[in-house]
Amino acid sequence: MRDTILAIVIVINALCGVLVWFMPDLGNYILLTIASAFTFLGIYDAFLQKKHSLLRAFPIIARLRWFFEEEREKIQQYFIEDDLNGTPINREKRSIVYQRAKKEIETIPFGTQHDLYEKGYEFVKHSIFPTDHHNVLGEEVVFGSDKCTQKYKSSIINISAMSFGSLSKNAIMALNQGAKMGNFAHNTGEGGVSPYHLQGGDLIFQVGTGYFGAGKTIDGKRYFDDEIFRENAIRPEVKMIEIKLSQGAKPGHGGILPAKKNTEEISKIRSVEPFTRVDSPPSHSAFSNFEEMISFLQKVRELSNGKPIGIKFCVGNNEEIEEMITSFAKAGNYPDFIAVDGGEGGTGSAPLEFTNYVGTPLLEGLSFVHKTLVKHNLKDQIKIIASGKAIDAFDIIKLKAMGADAIGMARSFMLSLGCIQARECNLDTCPVGVATQDEDLVEALVVADKNVRVKNYHAKTVAAVKEVVSSMGKKSIDEVTSKDIFRRNKAGDISSLEEIYFN
Ligand SMILES: Cc1cc2nc3c(=O)[nH]c(=O)nc-3n(C[C@H](O)[C@H](O)[C@H](O)COP(=O)(O)O)c2cc1C
Ligand code: SF4
Repeated sequence: MRDTILAIVIVINALCGVLVWFMPDLGNYILLTIASAFTFLGIYDAFLQKKHSLLRAFPIIARLRWFFEEEREKIQQYFIEDDLNGTPINREKRSIVYQRAKKEIETIPFGTQHDLYEKGYEFVKHSIFPTDHHNVLGEEVVFGSDKCTQKYKSSIINISAMSFGSLSKNAIMALNQGAKMGNFAHNTGEGGVSPYHLQGGDLIFQVGTGYFGAGKTIDGKRYFDDEIFRENAIRPEVKMIEIKLSQGAKPGHGGILPAKKNTEEISKIRSVEPFTRVDSPPSHSAFSNFEEMISFLQKVRELSNGKPIGIKFCVGNNEEIEEMITSFAKAGNYPDFIAVDGGEGGTGSAPLEFTNYVGTPLLEGLSFVHKTLVKHNLKDQIKIIASGKAIDAFDIIKLKAMGADAIGMARSFMLSLGCIQARECNLDTCPVGVATQDEDLVEALVVADKNVRVKNYHAKTVAAVKEVVSSMGKKSIDEVTSKDIFRRNKAGDISSLEEIYFN
């Protein structure tokens, strides 16, 4: 095969040479140049390079394989996937975000594409007497236990943690400006507060194990620092503090900032070496047991002048979570909120095994945390934020029904910024400027256009939640419970989520 390919290329090259000999015009010179380039490429692939056996056996044409491998995600999306089978977020869900963000027509023609008799199909039951959706209550939630002195009222839908570093400065600015316009909160992610977060939108300041914006490096190890933390925590934009224990896409691993995305500017904000991969450690150096954790949370609360303090994790070992909540109850001191992230959660960059096989899926994790808080009489004090693939109104109602007080959403807000799910967030090549630090690509994202889309997507989704809740005959989103959501099981019967998760 190798000899045949090389022979063909050389013959074409020779023919082009003859053509130029008899008709020496510009077009023929270009042809000859291209043919010569292919001949050299063939010789290089077949004899000079030693890394790729496939190229040595099939010079030139094996390169097509690399091209299709590189582009297969886009080819799959544009030509192969249907509305319901794309992953992690199918086209139907992506489209509703784009439509709501752009305020385009949101209706569907002809009927559902879902198979209503398939195992796993979920739905709510409507009432003969729907309420007026304009008057449906419950779109806001007040955070702050009896330990907190600066309670915070937020929307039930807020932007979940994504750092400057993982996302571009323009993406962060558009998210924050959208949050300001729509009056909802924007989580900084573990990269800390950057200048791009300070656009006037409310912030949830996340503190991860790397203590970026909340600590310093001593002998190569990161430590929490009271003063550095306080400087950021008392900013008027910061409304709540979230201590990140883990996230669903890589629980037990710690954050990863790829070397390419760790620019000079980001490395300064995080006080780390530029253009090196930055791994946050898997656990906190500020505490190593639940008693120390409770003291740390109280210290953080005091340093931030009494703002609501939360912890974020993906449920792992149930006994550990039970022990933690028991410790809160015994100490009579607790966080003001718990953010439960599902194993299905998103990330800018994570090891495959962690994304696929580590961490409890959201519905199991959420229901367990909710049950345990109720058991220890702490549910009135501790609010729950749930995150994990919430995109449309049904997703939000379902999580509310399962015990969440508010919903954190990351990837859907990325979609509202124009993310096309190319899944290159870890490569610094994001084609739409959302998850990259490449200046040219970042410029492609026009903040003044995308901030409005962020706001629109939020507002339209809240409105859709109220419409569905009104169809159920309820006056408030808070009235929805796990008894109101139904799922078809393996045998073809229908059970409520109450029967599946709470019995
Ligand atoms: C690009 C990207 C960056 C993220 N960065 C963080 C982070 O810094 N800290 C964190 O706790 N979670 C982070 N997450 C997880 C999200 O905050 C969220 O918990 C998870 O994606 C589930 O929400 P979703 O399904 O709506 O995306 C990130 C997710 C994405 C997609
Ligand atoms: S479009 Fe950008 S942000 Fe969206 S998945 Fe691709 S690389 Fe990530």
